[in-house]
Amino acid sequence: MAAVRDALIDAITASPEAVDPMALSLNEYPLPPLPAVRSALCASLDSLNRYPEFLPQRLRSLIAHRLGVHADQVVVGVGATSVLMQVLHAVTSPGDAIVMAAPTFDGYPIFARMARLTTVTVPLDAHGRHDLEAMADAAACARVVVVCRPHNPTGTVEPAEDLERFLSRLPGDTVVLLDEAYVEFLAPQHRIPATALVKRFGNVVVVRTFSKAYGLAGLRVGYGFCAPDLGRMLWTMQLPFAVPLGALIGVAASYAAESELQQRIRQVTAERRYLRMRMRAMGLRCTDAHANFVYLPGADVPWPEVFDGTGPQVRHYSDGGVRITVGSRTSTRAVLRTIGAAMGYEETCPQNTSGATRSPSRATTGSARDGVMSPTAWSR
Ligand SMILES: Cc1ncc(COP(=O)(O)O)c(C=O)c1O
Repeated sequence: MAAVRDALIDAITASPEAVDPMALSLNEYPLPPLPAVRSALCASLDSLNRYPEFLPQRLRSLIAHRLGVHADQVVVGVGATSVLMQVLHAVTSPGDAIVMAAPTFDGYPIFARMARLTTVTVPLDAHGRHDLEAMADAAACARVVVVCRPHNPTGTVEPAEDLERFLSRLPGDTVVLLDEAYVEFLAPQHRIPATALVKRFGNVVVVRTFSKAYGLAGLRVGYGFCAPDLGRMLWTMQLPFAVPLGALIGVAASYAAESELQQRIRQVTAERRYLRMRMRAMGLRCTDAHANFVYLPGADVPWPEVFDGTGPQVRHYSDGGVRITVGSRTSTRAVLRTIGAAMGYEETCPQNTSGATRSPSRATTGSARDGVMSPTAWSR
């Protein structure tokens, strides 16, 4: 009996904390669900003895209505992850080629392996953007090509014209996964009219998620939309009873709380701007990031030594780069303090305003932690 109780206590304590300023490695939203979304989800718990819809027709219609497309054009999944797998299972056969950038969202190499595809990688350009020309060349014989906009991990976006030129160059039977997991963080001038795009390009599937800006990563809801023919074909792969009851309620409540949600998104993008501004003031190079994270290339700073796991938890890349999720001002302060300690800065950081303060006690040579930072890193 004690063992069973311990297992329950273990299970409860193993749940991640909703508010954890150091959890900056998964691009999650830093706050618990909006109160209205939480209440709606709590109310739905009483019917957990019931199955959800056989196929998520209602959720599909709700999302389609929101997008202004026909329900036939939408597929729904357990996170964007399952939508991506659904597309790969529907349109590929083992051995087909899939083209993706390197580095990219680390799910893609895993999905490609699971679908037994041959992965062709194309390095990002010097600014951390997709090299769309090289990707179009590589995609000539591929079944699927992946473009994330904003890109993960660099947060960069390609201009709409470049994307359209890229799409025009691809064979009509090469399926494009246009991954917009972070689209809600984009300023209006960087958005593309995705519903018009899928009208013009019948091979494009736009994939989105409620895990990021909507702050519902634990609920696991994502969707894709595309031209009706392709949408109907993907719907045939929709797993029965797979999307949980709470998904419909969580999405409907989120749509109803639009203005609070936009307010939260503005807070994250303002914090991102502030973090980048402070990093640049420290002489660091960051990519032009448009999502809820920043990316610091690894060329001249040994980031694994700076973020060694004892402070903010961040995501390291094999090229030495590091991706840091934007969180609360407390997270920002922890990140700046960690970098500052390595660089010999004494960081001061206001609680919740966007004004930056830098202590004059910047070290003149090397690092506070010997060997961590080369003096050349200062000059950027
Ligand atoms: C670019 C990108 N696509 C898809 C996903 C998967 O999102 P989901 O939580 O909806 O499965 C992520 C998650 O980090 C991501 O960064």
